Amino acid sequence: MVTLEQAVSAAARARDNAYAPYSGFTVGAAIKVVDDDTFYVGCNVENASYGGTICAERSAIVHMVSRRGRSPVEYVVVLTGAEPPSVPCAICLQVLTEFCAADTPIHLADAEGVRRTLLLRELLPQPFVLV
Ligand code: THU
Repeated sequence: MVTLEQAVSAAARARDNAYAPYSGFTVGAAIKVVDDDTFYVGCNVENASYGGTICAERSAIVHMVSRRGRSPVEYVVVLTGAEPPSVPCAICLQVLTEFCAADTPIHLADAEGVRRTLLLRELLPQPFVLV
């Protein structure tokens, strides 16, 4: 049984590895999967060709899918140094929507812990759906 506090620590450790020489804005993310005590973490990885940058949240999703395929996500932690805590960008919310239920809690954290929690559907009420 892992705790939300441990998930925040995992996101903070991932943030320490962020590669953000252009913006200087570092982000860590941790995904908790149901019945799985491993945190699937990610950090932002920037590129000299700015559009090649991947955000922490998408990096964590790629990590989760690479390790165990599509999985039931319990919650996501996104950790920055921002005050107020940053919400994920719209591209990340769209990607999270692909793998997370609408009522998945997205915990917004800083080094001190969780500052705010919103559901995915509150952050992206109208995701794109391919029909
Ligand atoms: N970034 C994330 O990692 N997640 C987001 O949801 C928004 C922005 C990163 C991308 C870039 O490396 C830096 O933050 C500044 O935009």
